[in-house]
Amino acid sequence: MSANTAKALNNWENGRWIGQTLEVENGVCAVPGKLAPDNLEYTDEVKKATDHLYDEVSGFIPKFEWPAYAPLVHAINTLKKQKNAVILAHNYMTPDIFALIGDYKGDSLGLAIQATKTDADIIVQAGVHFMAETSKILCPEKTVLIPSLRAGCSLASSITGEDVKLIKQRYPGVPIVTYVNTSADVKAESDICCTSSNAVQVVESLGVDKVIMLPDEFLAKNVARQTNIEIITWHGRCEVHARFSAQDVRDMRAANPGVIVLAHPECPPEVVEESDFTGSTKAMSDYVGDHKPKNVILLTECSMSDNVAMANPEVDFVRPCNLCPHMKRITLENIYSCLRDEKHEVKVPKRIAKKARRAVQRMIDLPPPGKKGHFNPHAEPVHVKVI
Ligand code: 13P
Ligand code: SF4
Repeated sequence: MSANTAKALNNWENGRWIGQTLEVENGVCAVPGKLAPDNLEYTDEVKKATDHLYDEVSGFIPKFEWPAYAPLVHAINTLKKQKNAVILAHNYMTPDIFALIGDYKGDSLGLAIQATKTDADIIVQAGVHFMAETSKILCPEKTVLIPSLRAGCSLASSITGEDVKLIKQRYPGVPIVTYVNTSADVKAESDICCTSSNAVQVVESLGVDKVIMLPDEFLAKNVARQTNIEIITWHGRCEVHARFSAQDVRDMRAANPGVIVLAHPECPPEVVEESDFTGSTKAMSDYVGDHKPKNVILLTECSMSDNVAMANPEVDFVRPCNLCPHMKRITLENIYSCLRDEKHEVKVPKRIAKKARRAVQRMIDLPPPGKKGHFNPHAEPVHVKVI
């Protein structure tokens, strides 16, 4: 579709989309345009600069909507160059963000490592707030921006640094392993952090027979089955993964004979038991790339299937669609305006950042988890105390 054809459509006015823009609060990949700032237009220059990008997202963005995306994509990519900025995009971003403007893409561990490696002056975190805090903790001299200050996380908000201080009083000497899905003040009270890709490795790296693992009850219970180390945990849950049930998996298998089921370890243990493979978002993505299953279900956030499907067009995806309302607050529009205005800077008080950095860096300094990050779905259940 040429720029001129786009202008002729009813939903267009002077090259701008004026049709319905779906609210991202509904958890959909919104069609940008109506909310697009600065009257960004689908000019011939934009068309020339972006045409080559369309193929990758053609399965998700209808051709007639491309002129609504292209000006924002072009503007963001131009701003990145002008400001020496990078975008760290989590696997749960919608395909427009993930494929078209993300410089580094991956799971929580991968993004944290990339933050330490970039020589950019500005990091835009296309993810949630705790991820931006982690980048800031690791790169205190860089400007770290989060496109929406409302991009939180049910796990991060389940616990505070004060809670951790009380836990330490109750269990003196027991090391605290904290999931990165927490605020900086919780990390600051911890001995070491972990992500879903290295949790078992981190727990076993401490050389003790008992650890406290915060705040995800299900991740802790899934880890406990993979190790002989006793685990005490907290009652936090990911509101996205907690919604999957074992019966859901059985129903999906019955409806899709032969389907391969991959689960994230934030799912309840009885869901993991029903899966063929369990691992972090990167581990799931790698599994699909390596094994090319004919038909697969990813028990995780909805956009992940879209992003993995882009790289594996020959694989069929059954899509149970649990959306993370926090991740879905990040849009092309707010990435553009946050980078343009350098707004929503994430700051961490120096004293907290210094303590939190020790815990995050100690995790990063471990060797890459590799297959150690894969959970055996059929491991025996063990008792885990939840506090
Ligand atoms: P990973 O990408 O590290 O597997 O984490 C998943 C998640 O829920 C992040 O919020
Ligand atoms: Fe938090 Fe779950 Fe959303 Fe990840 S998917 S940001 S853990 S609520």
